[in-house]
Amino acid sequence: MKNKTSIQGSWASRWIFILAATGSAVGLGNIWKFPYITGENGGGAFVLVYLACILMVGIPIMMAEVFIGRRARKNPINALADVAEESGSTKKWGIIGLMGMLSGVLIFSFYSVVGGWVLHYIKVMLTGEMIGVTSDAAGSAFGALLADPATLLGWHTLFSIMSIAVVAAGINKGIETATRIMMPALFVLLIILLGYAMTTGGFAQGWNFMFEFDFSKLTWNAALVALGHSFFTLSLGMGTIMAYGSYMTKDASIGKTVLAIGGLDTLVALVAGLAIFPIIFSNGMDPAAGPGLMFISLPVAFGQMAFGQLFGVLFFILIAVAAWTSAISLLEPTVAFLIERLKIKRMTAAIGLGITVWALGIACLGSFSFMSDVTFFGKNTFDFFDYITANIMLPLGGIFIALFAGWVVKDKFAQDELQLPSAVFKLWNISMKFTAPIAVAIVLYFLINPMK
Ligand code: TRP
Repeated sequence: MKNKTSIQGSWASRWIFILAATGSAVGLGNIWKFPYITGENGGGAFVLVYLACILMVGIPIMMAEVFIGRRARKNPINALADVAEESGSTKKWGIIGLMGMLSGVLIFSFYSVVGGWVLHYIKVMLTGEMIGVTSDAAGSAFGALLADPATLLGWHTLFSIMSIAVVAAGINKGIETATRIMMPALFVLLIILLGYAMTTGGFAQGWNFMFEFDFSKLTWNAALVALGHSFFTLSLGMGTIMAYGSYMTKDASIGKTVLAIGGLDTLVALVAGLAIFPIIFSNGMDPAAGPGLMFISLPVAFGQMAFGQLFGVLFFILIAVAAWTSAISLLEPTVAFLIERLKIKRMTAAIGLGITVWALGIACLGSFSFMSDVTFFGKNTFDFFDYITANIMLPLGGIFIALFAGWVVKDKFAQDELQLPSAVFKLWNISMKFTAPIAVAIVLYFLINPMK
């Protein structure tokens, strides 16, 4: 293929690509969602299925996304189309990229609302207004926040502007600078928190909860949630990693790089769980509290511990940073597409898309108040966007990307990018052709036809 670089620019080094992709992968999915869905789905067995999905489905699909992006050096729609054409197939494969962009828009609109909750909690921690609260009081404070659309709108707007600003600044100045500073800070803060959690009395219980496998607690729905989450947490199935891959230099090894990203993402999720569950158990709280887990239980815990206010502020800043570097990556593929297709400026594309997702976000934040009557299949807008993207659109996008990489792309082109030892290439190829699509199809099938 003729393009040596993307018109959007390139990452300064392989290390920056790892940082940026890890910044995308590590987000609310790891710190907010992973602990609460682990709590809701009974712990250990769920964690094991999740780890298996990361290894057997997520990592191989991530390799496919990176190589497709890097080969074409274009936005996901055009990248899929070009790579298809090179292998003698139809450019219509670009449609997968289109569905991906829609997923990105839907995810951003609820993601930004949760990002707004996090910003609000930085303020709450700073002012110390929750010091010493009971879990009931913390629960009603969270409920009051959800029922207050004006406050939510302010924070959602701030979070949207922060994300749009970085995307508008472009991949070198914006995403790269943000990531270079924020990712290392995030790791340091998380380790400090884990250190604290180890000193609480609940560490052993938290550890057992996450790593004791009780398969009687596993349901098909839990398997679907685990699978869907493996896409969500690795930013797969919608073109984010493809877009980031298109800015990657040619000399970097895709296999090793992807393993590093997948490993870091998994590490952060597990450490987040190990930091959160001991705090919850040592304070006698319920691990299955749902989406409020972090926002209700942690302020209670922070309100009781020594230096709790400091740890609380740090913790919510950490989550905001993680959410920010992920939110950026939800917008980047579509912005790249708008620039390349409509030949408009990055600033214009970022603001245009930004206004769209911000407006959709209003429907999500209104789900808890003025729009609570609007439901889709019995779910409010917020839950519906989360459900349909994580559990359906991303896995479907993933199946198509896998089938595309396995059956459409000629082996010699795939191997030209991946450069894997031939035995590993065979494994990867089998995963693309069979394992990944079949695993996703089985789980989706049982979701639609539940076993009684
Ligand atoms: N992976 C991020 C998280 O865990 C969210 C995210 C960013 C994402 N970009 C994505 C999810 C693309 C799916 C697809 O919070």
